[in-house]
Amino acid sequence: MSEKFLWGSATAAYQCEGAWNEDGKGASIWDEFCHSAANTTKITGDVSCDFYHHYKEDIKMMGDCGQNTYRFSISWSRILPKEDRVVNQKGLEFYDKVLDECEKYGIVPNVTLIHYDLPDYIGAKGGWLYEGISDEFAYYAKVVFEHFKDRIPFYATINEPTFNASCCYLTGNYPPNVQNSLQDYFHCIYNMAVCNAKAIREFRKLNLKAKIGLVHSSCSYDIFVDNEEYRKAAKYGEYFSTECMLDPAILGKYEDNFIIALTKLGLDLSYMHEEEIALFKDNTIDFLGQNAYCRNVVKPYTTGETYVQVNNSGSGDKKESKIIKGWFESDFNDSMIFNKWGREIYPKTIYDTLIKRRERYGNIPIYITECGHGAYDIADENGYVEDDDRIEFLSSYINYMLKAKEEGVNVLGFYVWSTMDLYSWINGYKKRYGLVRVDYDNGLKRIPKKSYYWYKDLIKDKKDI
Ligand code: NOJ
Repeated sequence: MSEKFLWGSATAAYQCEGAWNEDGKGASIWDEFCHSAANTTKITGDVSCDFYHHYKEDIKMMGDCGQNTYRFSISWSRILPKEDRVVNQKGLEFYDKVLDECEKYGIVPNVTLIHYDLPDYIGAKGGWLYEGISDEFAYYAKVVFEHFKDRIPFYATINEPTFNASCCYLTGNYPPNVQNSLQDYFHCIYNMAVCNAKAIREFRKLNLKAKIGLVHSSCSYDIFVDNEEYRKAAKYGEYFSTECMLDPAILGKYEDNFIIALTKLGLDLSYMHEEEIALFKDNTIDFLGQNAYCRNVVKPYTTGETYVQVNNSGSGDKKESKIIKGWFESDFNDSMIFNKWGREIYPKTIYDTLIKRRERYGNIPIYITECGHGAYDIADENGYVEDDDRIEFLSSYINYMLKAKEEGVNVLGFYVWSTMDLYSWINGYKKRYGLVRVDYDNGLKRIPKKSYYWYKDLIKDKKDI
């Protein structure tokens, strides 16, 4: 592991690359979905901020900011465009060039293998529910590991497994747009856990110095009433969005009570196979990527069907909330502050989450692989954005992260989401997260925001922590 604390920023292939069908790239499920009638917004990542052609400029900007790490993802369908498993050399070459630029500025790459964008040929066979997915994923992972080896010191297998599964099979706003199916949700996460284990098995065969992890989204589960029923609701919450994935990935096994709780939900668990579960034990991750956005506040389940509500309109009128029938439901109080997309802003969650991860998973190395503030940025006539709200958000999250670090949590790096403005899935392009503004109306011009300069100073100040 690198000794120095890593300060950087993050992007993901579909969100920033553009060039969706260039140089032999195959279609991903996001290309397919965005081009279909199911995409009612009609907004796509076809071009986005065109990192594919602007990567030199973007990486130079990271270097000028003092960032010593960059998290990005590889597009699976750029490497393996068709189901014939033939490798697209041009795809590998693109990421070689990205790594060259990183090396030029002393930027440590932290690379995720899949960030939501499954190849469309996998989607057509059932996506994450396809029974052959773990072998396909392991094959893809092997191609990547064998090509890049230790040029990439940090690999992450899957981005946000539980959030991805929730959007695909509960909210239904991500392809394949299935709603309220707990059966598919847990099946998907199980398959992701097997994909993770099989990819790690390939990784270990190469005896690399590099480390491998995964990127998890959910933060702490909180309760407003401290009694047994509420604590049980919080535990169900942890099963629902954390332990179902991190237990197999870090502890190498499921908790017995988790399986019992799944059975009580009435799920058909025939998708679980002993020989696959046996793989968890010896194929655990070296580090945890933990994203930090909002906490989950829950209370005991009262009534109603399972649903997970998000707010993709940004109109400020609807809060994120969920009911998991029989397990728990969201809770609210008047002290909570929400952004326009109905997500709570609660900086202390990063501290609480880090402490909880240490409690359950020992002092595993942790990188905060994403933390960022989505907002309607307003630019002046020069395209400059004074994003004081983003600065306030990031500095309070960073302070809470540093508090956990001072208390001995093994947190080793922090990545702002996002490096520059990019496509924000169903939220399109108006919701912006970047340290650098992208002027979509003027040749995708990059203009650093106030937060970019603030981050540069912070990194200078804290480079020796
Ligand atoms: C998490 C995801 O990994 C990323 O793709 C997304 O855009 C950000 N959160 C912001 O919501």
